[in-house]
Amino acid sequence: MKTLSYAAQSATDELAPYELQRREPRPNDVVIDILYCGVCHSDLHQARDDWGFSTFPMVPGHEIIGRVVSVGPVVTRFNVGDQVGVGCMVDSCQHCASCARDLEQYCEEGCTFTYNGFDRVDQSATQGGYSQKIVVSDKFVLNIPDGLDLKGAAPLLCAGITTWSPLRHWKVGPQSKVAVIGLGGLGHMALKLANALGADATLFTRSPGKEADARSLGASNVVLSTNEAQMDAVKGKYDLIIDTVPNNHDLNPYIPTLAVDGTIVMVGYLGELEPPIHTIPVILGRRSVAGSAIGGIAETQEMLDFCGEHGITSDIEMVNIQDINTAWERMANSDVKYRFVIDMASLDTVAVNEPGCVGRP
Ligand SMILES: NC(=O)c1ccc[n+]([C@@H]2O[C@H](COP(=O)([O-])OP(=O)(O)OC[C@H]3O[C@@H](n4cnc5c(N)ncnc54)[C@H](OP(=O)(O)O)[C@@H]3O)[C@@H](O)[C@H]2O)c1
Ligand SMILES: [Zn+2]
Ligand SMILES: [Zn+2]
Repeated sequence: MKTLSYAAQSATDELAPYELQRREPRPNDVVIDILYCGVCHSDLHQARDDWGFSTFPMVPGHEIIGRVVSVGPVVTRFNVGDQVGVGCMVDSCQHCASCARDLEQYCEEGCTFTYNGFDRVDQSATQGGYSQKIVVSDKFVLNIPDGLDLKGAAPLLCAGITTWSPLRHWKVGPQSKVAVIGLGGLGHMALKLANALGADATLFTRSPGKEADARSLGASNVVLSTNEAQMDAVKGKYDLIIDTVPNNHDLNPYIPTLAVDGTIVMVGYLGELEPPIHTIPVILGRRSVAGSAIGGIAETQEMLDFCGEHGITSDIEMVNIQDINTAWERMANSDVKYRFVIDMASLDTVAVNEPGCVGRP
C-alpha cells in the first residue's frame, strides 16, 4: 500500500516528500491513519546518523496518534474507528526473558524500532510516523484514553514513557525528591509526571528564562546548573535525577546532589562521557549511575491510562509537515515549548509532482 511521507535520503539531506510502500497487512495487523506525530530529538539524532546505525531513506517519527482504518482477522483488541497510538517499537521476539517480563525494549534479540529498524518477517526497513498511514502488529498498538487531547497525547508515546519508566522503576511517590536535567520534550513530561505521582520535583537547567515555565509544569525549585552556589545549595538532596540532556556533558557536578543511595539515570545522551565520572562521590554515598530506555508495552499503556485519569498531556506547538526542517533546527537550539507535533493533514496538500517528491509518478 502506497503512503505519502517525509524522509531523509541521507545523513546530510533535509527531510523531503517521499512515497512509501507499506507492507500488505498480515492477519494480526492494524492499519492506522496517522493524525498527529510528535517530534522527538531522537528523530534528529537518527536522521543525522549520530548513533552510527542509520539506514536511508528514513521516515522518522515514533510518537504516533491515529485512527484504526482496518484490522486483520485475528485482531481482537481493536476496531475500526478506535483512537490509538504507536511508540518507539513495533515488534520484539516475544519469547526471551525480557519479553516475558514485559520489557520488550530490552528484548535479547533486539526489539524492532518503529523506524530505522528491520521487520522481523520480511526484513524490510521499518518506517515511522511522518507519514499518512502505518501498519503495525496489534501487540504494539496502544489504546488512547477517551478525553485526552489527541494532539497533546502524541508525545506521551516516547517523551511520556521514557520518563515514566524510571519514575516507576525507582518507585517515586509522595516521599521522593526528584530532579530533572534539561527542560525539553522529555524534561517537561518528567516534571509533570513526577509531580502527579506526588514527588517534590526540581529542574536543573542551563536556561534562566525557563524558570517560570518549570514552576508551572510542577517544579518546586529551579537550579541554574551553571551557577556553583545554586548547585552547592542542593548537595545530598535527590533520590532520583533523570538526565535528559541530548549531548555530551559533565555529570560530575550533579552526582553530589544525590542523597545517599540516590540514582542518576541517563536517558538523553548515548555515548562516552567527557570528562569521565569521578568515582569518589559515587562511592562515598552508595550512589548509582544508571540508564533507561523507553518502556515496555504494558508500562506504556499504564502511563497512558494514568495520563487519562490525571488529564496529563504534553505542552505542544503544532507544525505542518512542510515546516519540519525549521522545527528540527529550532529543537536543536532548545527553542520549543515543549514539543513539536506535526498535523499530518498537512501531508494531504503536498503536491503529487512537487520537486523532490521521490518515487512519485
Ligand atoms: N532513553 C530513551 O529511551 C530515549 C527516548 C527518547 C529520547 N531520548 C533522548 O533524550 C534526549 C532528549 O530528548 P528531547 O526530545 O527531550 O530533547 P529536547 O526537547 O531537545 O530537550 C533537551 C533539553 O536538554 C537541555 N540541553 C540541550 N543541550 C544541552 C547541553 N549541551 N548541555 C546541557 N543541557 C542541554 C535543554 O534544556 P535546558 O535549556 O533546560 O538546559 C534542552 O531543552 C535526546 O538525546 C533523545 O535522543 C532517549
Ligand atoms: Zn523519542
Ligand atoms: Zn525478546
